[in-house]
Amino acid sequence: MADVTVAVIGGDGIGPEVTAQACKVLRAGAERAGLTVDLLDVDVGARRYLATGEVLPDAVLEELRGVDAILLGAIGAPEVPPGVLERGLLLRLRFAFDQYVNLRPITLLPGVTSPVRDLEPSDCDLMVVRENTEGLYAGAGGTSHHGSPGETAVETSINTRHGIERVARFAADLAVRRAGRLTLCHKTNVLTHAGGLWHRITEAVASEAGLTLDYAHVDALCLHLVQDPGRFDVVVTDNLFGDIITDLGAAVQGGLGYAASGNLNPDGTAPSMFEPVHGSAPDIAGTGSASPVAAVLSVTLLLEHLGQPEAAAAVQRAAASVVPLLGPDQPSTEALGDRIAEAVATG
Ligand code: IPM
Ligand code: MN
Repeated sequence: MADVTVAVIGGDGIGPEVTAQACKVLRAGAERAGLTVDLLDVDVGARRYLATGEVLPDAVLEELRGVDAILLGAIGAPEVPPGVLERGLLLRLRFAFDQYVNLRPITLLPGVTSPVRDLEPSDCDLMVVRENTEGLYAGAGGTSHHGSPGETAVETSINTRHGIERVARFAADLAVRRAGRLTLCHKTNVLTHAGGLWHRITEAVASEAGLTLDYAHVDALCLHLVQDPGRFDVVVTDNLFGDIITDLGAAVQGGLGYAASGNLNPDGTAPSMFEPVHGSAPDIAGTGSASPVAAVLSVTLLLEHLGQPEAAAAVQRAAASVVPLLGPDQPSTEALGDRIAEAVATG
């Protein structure tokens, strides 16, 4: 029996292409760490939905529950109505496996050009800790008088003490291990109910960890993230704010091609799931022109999570080493994957 089993959901569009390379790199990283890995292919996504109507059968969910980690490529196709796979697959997994942290590094790799002029890697190295099970994503709400002139839609943001406390604690622990700066991002000047709760709890958790909490309203944080990303170390925020600021962060770090994420269940009661932030990009699927770097950087988070920091660092260095090759005439997805895996083995 292998030491660890990783379920692989390649998904749709460029998902399977980048995931194949990420798996290659994962194997190289595991080998370096003296770890044997079993990869378990799981077929869900737009293709299965369009063929069978199934999004995430309960039997598949239970199969996934038993693995050590999940690596996901990308889900979605233009033929599937919005929300079906997002809610039925991605959010269902995040919620069912209590992956309450969405960890998203915003790191400018050396040699990558940021749209922010003259930005240096040393001034762009932060972690966003996004709450991943509550807020406006919880699904609380409804529609009444559907189709009539009086039609009304309500989406309610769910914020619990339990939910805030646990994500704040994760963020504070992370800040203690990094530069010791923790920023809460919210909108407390308008969202006084939820914002007040977030602020009180995060302040208490920070102080317990020996940190002084910094605070930024989400609109101001967007400004700072572009003008001076170096002021941030760890940013903790709610689900929707986290979704939005991490796309901005992805732009600052050079684009979605560099944005990795981990949906973490830090308590280990169910598997965590690792995925590049980018989507399925159906327009370039099958052309071999997708960069596997974001998927590979998600493997570094996976290896960290499996308690393999040395292998994770090796994968990170290997991914960074192909940066000079990226651009309009870059090697194919597969060739890039080969190079990165080779660099993991030899570097
Ligand atoms: C992301 C995505 C998802 C989200 C969508 C696809 C549900 O945008 O992972 O950032 O909003 O969380
Ligand atoms: Mn998003």
